[in-house]
Amino acid sequence: AKPLLEPKQKMQAICDLLQEQIDTYDWVGFYMANHDERVLNLWCQAGEQTDHVQIPFGKGICGQVAVSNENFVVEDVKAQDNYIACSIHVKSEVVIPLFKDGKNIGQIDIDSNTIDAFDKSDEEFLEWVNAQVAAIL
Ligand code: SME
Repeated sequence: AKPLLEPKQKMQAICDLLQEQIDTYDWVGFYMANHDERVLNLWCQAGEQTDHVQIPFGKGICGQVAVSNENFVVEDVKAQDNYIACSIHVKSEVVIPLFKDGKNIGQIDIDSNTIDAFDKSDEEFLEWVNAQVAAIL
């Protein structure tokens, strides 16, 4: 039988839940990697609509995480020179890579309208979220 919800729909539900329930999470999305074309594609999001539905590897915070394979916590987006602005309201950001069988296949990206909104506990929580997502992909 077909599962009730496809992975993309489940990821959408996760975006909605995080964005609605956590005060400082103003925008939540999953960008997934196309390694052949070296681009990230926006699979789902909650919050303000963004024009940045495709991001080349290396560009912006997201693009940097696609190549570094490391968490990126941005206390103040104004202090970043390789940054893609999605909304004038955003003040801080966190991007956590999503690994499947040891491979960086995408990431969760969270924007906050609050400065310095993310700490170690957010990183650990979002790593856990990504592990749950990896398990359904
Ligand atoms: N700020 C990101 C772009 C994605 S938007 O935040 C939705 C970046 O610099 O990669």
